[in-house]
Amino acid sequence: MHDRFLRACRREPTDVTPVWFMRQAGRYMAEYRELRKKYTLLEICKTPELALEVTLQPLRLGMDAAILFADILLPLEPMGAPFEFAKGEGPVIHEPVRDRAGIERLRVFEPEEGLGYVLDAVRLIRKELDGKTPLIGFAGAPFTMASYLVEGGKSSDYRLTKQLMWSDPEAWSALMGKISEVVRRLLRAQVAAGAQAVQLFDSWVGSLSIDDYREHVQPHVRHILRDLEATGVPVIHFGTNTGALLEAQRDAGGTVIGVDWRTPLDKAWQRIGYDRAVQGNLDPLLLCAPRAVAERRARAVLAEAGGRAGHIFNLGHGIIPETPVDTVKAVIDLVHSIPRASLQG
Ligand code: CP3
Repeated sequence: MHDRFLRACRREPTDVTPVWFMRQAGRYMAEYRELRKKYTLLEICKTPELALEVTLQPLRLGMDAAILFADILLPLEPMGAPFEFAKGEGPVIHEPVRDRAGIERLRVFEPEEGLGYVLDAVRLIRKELDGKTPLIGFAGAPFTMASYLVEGGKSSDYRLTKQLMWSDPEAWSALMGKISEVVRRLLRAQVAAGAQAVQLFDSWVGSLSIDDYREHVQPHVRHILRDLEATGVPVIHFGTNTGALLEAQRDAGGTVIGVDWRTPLDKAWQRIGYDRAVQGNLDPLLLCAPRAVAERRARAVLAEAGGRAGHIFNLGHGIIPETPVDTVKAVIDLVHSIPRASLQG
């Protein structure tokens, strides 16, 4: 069993540093673009055999973990807020949720009923990987999910989301409570279906001040993470732009804390505490830089981790579609060429 990744989550020593990349399956790969000519993103997500195929595509590059191919927005449909991925626009939620009546109507569903296809994909992928590569499940965190529900799509300032949070804290709390319970059940179900680790994506939480995070978000994230930690499966707690939030995110929970590239990894780990593992934190755009520059900066990330057990090499956010596959492979090979012990001292 190829278990570097799971060992690092538990802060156990490994030969070299494990590596995987957020959005490691996707448009930067020709195989994925080829499949997307025949199927939409949602068709791939809803067909376990296709989700399996895409999940496996990047593994030829040598990643130490697979991540389920799905999307954080899939639970919106069974909650009663259908959406589509509109060409060039990103996700569009048909009826955004902006008031008490809308929040009232949202359903907290059973994952095997509302998202059976995701769980079927987990079971199928797990069987196919057959213990060779560990499988990571995932879901969106409540603030990030709420931002799509309230804004109706992507946003640059989260104005409507913050307005709801500040103008009607009770309604906000009800909204976050419903999303959190959906996400808690979904992650539990993924673990029951065979996911060997799970990641909570709070991609947009860095738009909040520390006080707003603690008051309006942290209790809901804690509801999810405390429960998942009880399963014994490693839980990765990830966000971006979180330089001001790292301690508060750690307090909310997570076996592994994700760090973006804006905070140096050594400083981040010191603040998080060495009783947690860390994941990160190469700027994803560096994979579009000259290869020698990408490699030099990847070495710098490893040096900052200092060979301490419990570092999982990753990007600070997802791979972008313009990324050359060769550079992805070169960075993975570089990480795997450096014995962890040689980084200590
Ligand atoms: O990491 C992986 O390889 C697994 C697959 C995965 C997808 N989405 C597939 C996808 C994961 C982990 C996600 C998470 C996700 N989805 C997040 C959190 C992570 C992050 O990047 O911050 C968010 C915010 C979403 C919502 C989402 N999905 C947006 C905003 C978009 C459109 C933007 C874009 O890049 O076009 C998507 C579409 C999406 N989800 C793609 C993929 C591979 C785009 C590719 C396509 O259209 O085929």
